[in-house]
Amino acid sequence: MRPFKTQLLKWIGNKQRFAHEIASFFPRDIRVYREPFLGSGAILAAFQPPKAVGSDVFKPLMDIWQMLRNNPATLVEWYRSRYDRFHKLGRPEGYEAIKADYNASPNGADLLFLCRSCYGGVVRFRKADGYMSTPCGIHDPISSMSFAERVDIWRRRTSGADFVCLDYREAFASSREKDLIYCDPPYADCQNILYGGQNFNLASLFQEIAEAKNRGVRIALSIDGTKKSGNHICKLEIPEGIFEREVFVNCGRSMLRRFQLLGETLEDEIVHDRLLLTY
Ligand SMILES: C[S@@+](CC[C@H](N)C(=O)[O-])C[C@H]1O[C@@H](n2cnc3c(N)ncnc32)[C@H](O)[C@@H]1O
Repeated sequence: MRPFKTQLLKWIGNKQRFAHEIASFFPRDIRVYREPFLGSGAILAAFQPPKAVGSDVFKPLMDIWQMLRNNPATLVEWYRSRYDRFHKLGRPEGYEAIKADYNASPNGADLLFLCRSCYGGVVRFRKADGYMSTPCGIHDPISSMSFAERVDIWRRRTSGADFVCLDYREAFASSREKDLIYCDPPYADCQNILYGGQNFNLASLFQEIAEAKNRGVRIALSIDGTKKSGNHICKLEIPEGIFEREVFVNCGRSMLRRFQLLGETLEDEIVHDRLLLTY
């Protein structure tokens, strides 16, 4: 598996840099590849499965994926029109105007530009009401031409995929023998402020995984291994008997931590992802 590091979207917790490492642990005889916590789709695009379903519960995000599949030219236009507005109004006014539109009516077109231009690429939502709160980034968002090139690349790499807005439990319900489900859920107790404040419960995910495994579905689960957030270490109880193997994947420096430090990096903030495999 060759590294594929060109991002289409910026997304908190994205696995772009080591997606190829994770995908190298997937079996080769997959009927349908399913990714029910799709986010920025890093693993799907690195793996390029011939038949896949990518899903996520976050509707504005899935609007972007569906537009990539059905009308990539419109996706490019979504980005171009916001990029032009951003430059016309200046920074941060242009960004704030687009953010205000998004918050008045959450939609994929505004989210697309916001995720590429927000501070640290960390799209954050207020838990109470889903308000997108990240300030304007200090970097220059990629040009419309560069974005269009990425759309071409990503459209090709995801050509085997359908995109649906679903809770992960519905995605699990569609799985059959010989499918592979790759799960990258929100970090159980460290990411509850992110992703629009959706309530995610890891115990229910383990239950879904156990049931799917009994039907002959194979599951690979990325889970926070040794994440430190200040003095807080995320603790996880992994039930016995579901997983056959466990590997560590090096994830580099923690994005969350970087955001908290407002752009400063911390050399010792290394996060290892655990990859648990039911096969
Ligand atoms: C850690 S991110 C996935 C990152 C992804 N692997 C990437 O490389 O960008 C977790 C995703 O789970 C989604 N999510 C949260 N709760 C969910 C649920 N109940 N069902 C489906 N997706 C959910 C969030 O919207 C978020 O995009």
